[in-house]
Amino acid sequence: MDKLIVEGGHKLVGNICISGAKNACLPILAAALLTEEECVISNVPLLKDVSTMINILASLGRDVKKEGDKVIIARGRVTNVTASYEMVSTMRASVAVLGPLIGRYREAKVSFPGGCVIGPRPIDLHLKGLRALGVDIDIKEGYIIAKAKKLKGNRIYLGGHFGSSVLATDNTLMASVLAEGETIIEDAACEPEVTDLVEFLQSMGADISGKGTPTLRVRGVKKLKGAKHSVIPDRIETGTYMIGAVITGGKLFLEGTTVDHNLALMDKLHECGGEIKEHKSGIEISRKTNKIKATDVTTLTYPGFPTDLQAQMMSLVTIGDGISVITEKIYPERFIHISELNRMGANIILEGSTAIIKGVPSLSGAPVMASDLRASAALVLAGLVADGKTEIARVYHLDRGYERIEEKLTACGAKIYRVKE
Ligand code: EPZ
Repeated sequence: MDKLIVEGGHKLVGNICISGAKNACLPILAAALLTEEECVISNVPLLKDVSTMINILASLGRDVKKEGDKVIIARGRVTNVTASYEMVSTMRASVAVLGPLIGRYREAKVSFPGGCVIGPRPIDLHLKGLRALGVDIDIKEGYIIAKAKKLKGNRIYLGGHFGSSVLATDNTLMASVLAEGETIIEDAACEPEVTDLVEFLQSMGADISGKGTPTLRVRGVKKLKGAKHSVIPDRIETGTYMIGAVITGGKLFLEGTTVDHNLALMDKLHECGGEIKEHKSGIEISRKTNKIKATDVTTLTYPGFPTDLQAQMMSLVTIGDGISVITEKIYPERFIHISELNRMGANIILEGSTAIIKGVPSLSGAPVMASDLRASAALVLAGLVADGKTEIARVYHLDRGYERIEEKLTACGAKIYRVKE
C-alpha cells in the first residue's frame, strides 16, 4: 500500500484546476442504465470510485469506456441485473444502481452495502422509497432482491433520523421517472449533486420539477433517451483546497469552480481569517490575519456545513487561536481523524458527537494512518503545516476521491511525494 510523505512549512501558492464532482458523477453514471441509448458524461474525474462504477455498469452488460474526462455508455441493454458483493463492498455508492435497474427493468439484485469507518450507513430510506413505488424487497444472503410487476407513483416522505438522504433521494427518483403516474418526494436531499442528477434525468426526457428544493415532483414518462451531460465541479475538493490556502497562509486560485455550493464553508473561513474573492472563472482564497481564528461548526444537510468537510475544518482549527467546537450531526461517529491529529500534537477531546479543539501553536509531523477519504485529506492538510515530515499510510482512501492530489499540491509549492510500501 502506498504512503504519502508530506514536509511541512510550505505555503500553498498558485492555481489548482478543480475536477468534476465524484458524488455527482457516480449516480449520474448509474442513471444511464435508465435508457438503452448512448449517454456521454463529461468532466468525469479520474478516481478509483469512478473506475468501480464503470466496472459495475460493465458487469451488468453495458459497453462503457472512458476517454479522457468523458465516459461513454454505448447503446445496449443490460444482460443481468446483479451488482455483486465483490463490487459493492469496495464502494457503498454502488447501491445507486438499485433505482435505475428497477426503474427500467423492474428488477435488481444488489449486494447489501456494508458500513464503513464513518458509521453504520443504513439503507432503510432507500428501501422505504422503493417499496412506496410498489417494489417487493427481499433481503437474502446479503443481497437486496427487488422486483416490481408495475411501478406506481406515490407521495413519499424520505426524511430520516439525520434528515434527508442523498442516495436514498437519488434511488427513489431514478425508480420513479418511468413509473406510472405522479411521485412526490418530500424531504428530498437538496445537495448540488442531487440537482445535477435531476438535470441529467431532465435532459434524458424525465419530467421532474422542484430541483434543489426538499420537494421533488415527478411525472412518469414512457421512455428516456440518451443524453450528454457535463458534471458539476467538486465542491468538497474545492473546499479542501480552500482550507489548504487558509491553513498554510498561502494564496490559491481555484479554477473552474464556484463558491455558490460552498457558502457555509465560506462563512466559517471568513470567521477564521480567510479572504475569499469570487471571479467568473473561479475562487481566489488567502488568509488576511496572521493567526487562524477559532470558530464553531455543526455539520448539517445542504445548504448547512457539509459533513465531508468536517475533518478538514478540524485540521484548520487545531492551530487556531482559541477553543473551537465541531459538532457532527450527520455521522455522529465520524471522528476517527481525532486520534491521528492528536498524534501530531493537536489537543482535541471528544464529548459524544462534539469535538472540543484547543488551539496549539504548532503541529509536529508523525507517522499517521488514513482511514476514510475525507480524514485522509485532513491529515494531508495537517501535514502541510506540521513541523517536519508526516507519513500518511493507506493513501488508497485518498485516491478514491481526490484526483492527482500530490501533483496539484506540488504545483503550488507543497513538498509531498508518494512512496510504494
Ligand atoms: C452521500 O452519501 C455522499 N456519498 C457522502 O460522501 C456524504 O457524506 C453523504 O451523502 C452526506 O452528505 C455519495 O454521494 C456517493 P446519506 P449517502 O444517505 O447518500 C443516514 C464522501 O466522502 N441514512 O445522505 O450514503 C446516514 O446514516 C462520502 O464523498 C439513514 O439513516 O449519505 C447518515 O447519517 C462519504 N438511512 C445520513 O442519513 C438511509 O437509508 C445522511 O446519509 C440512508 C442514510
